[in-house]
Amino acid sequence: MCGIVGYIGEKCACDVLVEGLRRLEYRGYDSAGVALLVDDHINVVKTIGKVSVLENIIHDSKSARIGIGHTRWATHGEPNSVNAHPHTDCSGDIAVIHNGIIENYVALKKKLSCLGHEFKSQTDTEVLAHLIEEFNSRADNLEVAVRLALREVDGTFGLVVMSAKEPEVLVAARRGSPLLIGLGESEKLIASDASALIRHTRNVVYMHDNEIAVVTRNNVSLKNLDDETINREAEYLTFNLEQIEKGGFDHFMQKEISEQPETILNAFRGRLKDDEGIATMGGLRDVEDKVTNAKRFVIIACGTSWHAALVGKYIMEQHARIPVEVDYASEFRYRKPVLMEGDVVWAISQSGETLDTLAALREAKRAGVPVYGIVNVVGSTIARETDAGVYIHAGPEIGVASTKAFTSQLAVLNLINLLVSRKRKTLDAKQGKEIIEEMHRLPEKICQILDQKERIKEIAEEFRDSRNFLYLGRGVNFPVALEGALKMKEISYIHAEGYPAAEMKHGPIALIDEDMPAVFIALGHSTYHKSLSNIQEVLARKGKVIVVANEADGRLKDLSDHIIEIPRTLEILSPILSVIPLQLLSYYMAIERGCNVDQPRNLAKSVTVE
Ligand code: G6P
Repeated sequence: MCGIVGYIGEKCACDVLVEGLRRLEYRGYDSAGVALLVDDHINVVKTIGKVSVLENIIHDSKSARIGIGHTRWATHGEPNSVNAHPHTDCSGDIAVIHNGIIENYVALKKKLSCLGHEFKSQTDTEVLAHLIEEFNSRADNLEVAVRLALREVDGTFGLVVMSAKEPEVLVAARRGSPLLIGLGESEKLIASDASALIRHTRNVVYMHDNEIAVVTRNNVSLKNLDDETINREAEYLTFNLEQIEKGGFDHFMQKEISEQPETILNAFRGRLKDDEGIATMGGLRDVEDKVTNAKRFVIIACGTSWHAALVGKYIMEQHARIPVEVDYASEFRYRKPVLMEGDVVWAISQSGETLDTLAALREAKRAGVPVYGIVNVVGSTIARETDAGVYIHAGPEIGVASTKAFTSQLAVLNLINLLVSRKRKTLDAKQGKEIIEEMHRLPEKICQILDQKERIKEIAEEFRDSRNFLYLGRGVNFPVALEGALKMKEISYIHAEGYPAAEMKHGPIALIDEDMPAVFIALGHSTYHKSLSNIQEVLARKGKVIVVANEADGRLKDLSDHIIEIPRTLEILSPILSVIPLQLLSYYMAIERGCNVDQPRNLAKSVTVE
């Protein structure tokens, strides 16, 4: 969602903030702004549009050594320069940036208006600036004013406040939205995401919920909202700058798609016991018995991670013979789910910060069941709040449309399946070894698919003006159809729907005519022959058929307008391969249509509001 960055130190604050905001732009980007302290007053510059626009309109602020910056993804109030952050109080002496939602902002605004405060924007955030102003007139200092103000607030926040009256201090607070503090020498940074501060320092302190930090250039004092001091060790960030740069590619999405041979290798690294035909994961070692003896798995996730969870259901029910339920986190948290002894809840999240997933896992913890994570971002809130878990090690994913994180989630779900199935003896060592052998072959097979990008580009050229797409798959490749359709919608703005192929007859078939392309995933596994019939049904209605098929499948060549061939592998591993042509198809389609691939309209990488 919104990106937050704050700086205090000896460098030009404006340059640090703008560079940080650029790295955060993928989180949310309808508008951007900074507040910089220049000659004892706060200079606020904000605009609708990109950080590059902002950069061009900041003048005369180069002397500032303290400031805050924000990229916004609108929740309350349309995207425009008035609603952009930072927001200020009546005097213009206090500036606030905020990620999250102040749920009682209407009541607070009313109260503050009665006290004479004048509001400029339609945002919930602006009430924070006025509320802090109100308390600041009575409190000893900014820290106390922020603490008192936050007692009045319902909702979520990751926020940073500065005051012209206290030019050596930034105050940050968190409840529900991520914040971390970078500890440089004679400088400190505050950001919602490590990528915004890694250029300056790798030593960071992650803030937890209900904490407030008073940050000066030489010191950080961390307390809870009840004013009790908290001592927390700094952590060291291990990812490098190249990982968050495009490295010669036109787009992050393109780079991330092409990284998949390596990211799959990283997901498996050190976790496969070839001789025993079993997987091992350090993060689950202490809870292995609970996992293998579980009576049921419940997986909660959102978006692409939810599609990965669905693949997990197919795999684990087939092999480990554990009942698996998959729930949208947003539904799970509000529908009073029945959780029982013996249940194990898994939360899957690339960012580790998705608010609904976080709230759902807290709900599950309250019910007393163990909750484990499958997460990409190391140190993220979901990674910290789960009882145990597995990192997918895909490295930073910047493109809003998730690609490499999806395949790495599938890789880890396969590892868990292998561990559990072998422990429960639903798979023997020989079968386990066969799976591992195939796992080792995946990176090479992914390279073979990536080599076909020109062919996929041609297909995108042909269908660039299509207004609808249908994605059809069966079994373990049904969730891949959903994921293919999601990718198409997200970055090409083409309406696309995913269906289990057999369901087509119950509705979607009515849509098929010569203008409707249908993308089938039809691999040589259990439901192959059924898929052939489904393809015939589309052809009979003059629909255009694009098939993702196994190499040398002569039958499908005759039955399709376009065939994209992928190497054979085991059915449970096949989604890791079959999704890649669909990622590439949506990527090239977006390019053909002139869409902004990495920053699609209305979407954000990390959804930290409900
Ligand atoms: C957003 C992103 C998706 C992602 C989803 C869940 O919608 O745009 O790419 O799949 O959130 O995010 P998570 O970080 O929890 O996997």
